[in-house]
Amino acid sequence: ERQKRIRNFSIVAHIDHGKSTIADRILEKTHTVSKRDMKAQILDDLDLERERGITIKLNAVELEYTAKDGKDYIFHLIDTPGHVDFSYEVSRSLAACEGALLVVDAAQGVEAQTLANAYLAIDNDLEIVPVINKVDLPSAQPEKVQEEIEEMIGIDASDSVMTSAKTGLGIDELLERIVSDVPAPEGDITKPLKALIFDSVYDSYRGVVLNVRVREGLVKVGDTIELMSNKKTFEVTDVGVMSPKAVSRDYLMAGDVGYITASIKSVVETQVGDTVTLADNPTDEPLTGYRKSTPMVYAGMYPVDNGKYEDLHEALEKLKLNDAALEYEPETSQALGFGFRVGFLGLLHMDVVQERLEREFNLDLIITSPSVDYHVTTTSGEEIVVDNPAELPDASEIKEVREPYVRAEIMVPEDFVGPVMELCQRKRGQFVTMDYLDKYRVNVIYKLPLLEIIFDFFDDLKSNTKGYASLDYRVEEYEPSELVKMDILLNGESVDALSFIVHKDFAYQRGRDIVSRLKEVIPRQMFEIPVQAAIGNKIVARATVKAYRKDVTAKLYGGDRTRRDKLLNKQKAGKKRMKEVGKVSIPQEAFMSVLNLN
Ligand code: GTP
Repeated sequence: ERQKRIRNFSIVAHIDHGKSTIADRILEKTHTVSKRDMKAQILDDLDLERERGITIKLNAVELEYTAKDGKDYIFHLIDTPGHVDFSYEVSRSLAACEGALLVVDAAQGVEAQTLANAYLAIDNDLEIVPVINKVDLPSAQPEKVQEEIEEMIGIDASDSVMTSAKTGLGIDELLERIVSDVPAPEGDITKPLKALIFDSVYDSYRGVVLNVRVREGLVKVGDTIELMSNKKTFEVTDVGVMSPKAVSRDYLMAGDVGYITASIKSVVETQVGDTVTLADNPTDEPLTGYRKSTPMVYAGMYPVDNGKYEDLHEALEKLKLNDAALEYEPETSQALGFGFRVGFLGLLHMDVVQERLEREFNLDLIITSPSVDYHVTTTSGEEIVVDNPAELPDASEIKEVREPYVRAEIMVPEDFVGPVMELCQRKRGQFVTMDYLDKYRVNVIYKLPLLEIIFDFFDDLKSNTKGYASLDYRVEEYEPSELVKMDILLNGESVDALSFIVHKDFAYQRGRDIVSRLKEVIPRQMFEIPVQAAIGNKIVARATVKAYRKDVTAKLYGGDRTRRDKLLNKQKAGKKRMKEVGKVSIPQEAFMSVLNLN
């Protein structure tokens, strides 16, 4: 029977341990793509992913493999992202599998996300196949890594597969191990359809493409499917698998991973984590949904050209299809006009969304400084959630503000414990505990305000530990904090989009820093521009952007032609990301100034 020959698995790893490269080798070995056609890292299909070398969206590919036992097997390889911002996508894809290849770099060993992902796999009852990759490196220490996996994760690693995705070593063995170790899917084909949506992608020709794992039953073209969360029904127009291009099939059955299209036009209907069933023969209970991903970081997004508001709206709607974690709602700013408050999983996610909006949808955007969400109790006893600093009520109306705190696990060699603790302390952290993971490595646990983490914590951590530390965190609770709103005034006018929230103890320093930075990034004009930072009515810092000197302007227009053209072009390029607020032009960098302080 076909089901017995199916293997559904994911590859999980800490970032850069070689997950995508291993996936490529597996594709190559199973002749899913000829080498000639193969671009580097086929699974990372967005340009952006390729450029940044990170996996963002998950992808499912069907592969055929003839094993040493002479039988043909069907592999469904589900790629997962490696960055901490995207851990929710990892959990979604894992729920579609029976097994996981846990890839660990032979030179780096177990890192924070190796642990986090391994636990996710264990939670999903997956069979874990440990893979020690990059054994070709001179610094590889596979035996040591094997011990680490056993000690730190608590699984048997004595039979880990040793691979070099670079040279291809060990890949044949890996394929055999997928056959022998990953269990075949179970699930009754005769029962009513029960399938889990683990991803949905918008395609301008086919509408919404649902990536599903069929748990029970069967689905084919012409069936009327029902999405159980909202009871919406659609007629199936195509089912099939990615191999790696879309290939139509007669049906998808229990155990399969594949796609369904059903001329679903509105992006809002398809809830990732939802269960698909048949309208006329429904299953009685939906599958337990996935952990819902909630945004942790918010920022305002405004088109530079106010006329592009609707374009931005449409673009966000389309992106949301590929990206269940993205949230947005309309927002107006006195300074920037009409735009959206957009919720992201983290700063990388924000960067990715911004780049996609600009590249794929040709939009020029101004993004305001990111913020977390605050829970506020007002003096009148009202509870409100504030994700836009400009909307924080007056200090006199606030009884209490609570901010999100994360539990951060930082793995470092013991030599760096000191610097790590110093850094955490500086970021308002509260020490929780510290464990020796093995003879050399320590897991330092801190409670830290999310606000401090989203700024440059990760970069600081890396530079304080020579790159040896790895980080994993999740939001745990909201705690009262002494926070104040800092307003920024340009030319005497408060610019709402530049407001930010800061801890009282850091307020003065931050105010001074940001004012001096704004002075650098705001271009000179014909008149002087005072830049001020204020808490309530109190000005805490001040600087002045000087006016052009006459001779500077003269030089600008008097110089030789090429130089002048160059200047003009440079100005034009700069203009694109500039917003006129009152009489002052504010460049994008100004809104991000808060990010680059410390
Ligand atoms: P994300 O997709 O960002 O999570 O990273 P990843 O885990 O998929 O890592 P990726 O496959 O992109 O590999 C990271 C780097 O390691 C790349 O520069 C690879 O060329 C390199 N690499 C992967 N496997 C090997 C290996 O076996 N040996 C050596 N020497 N380098 C490898």
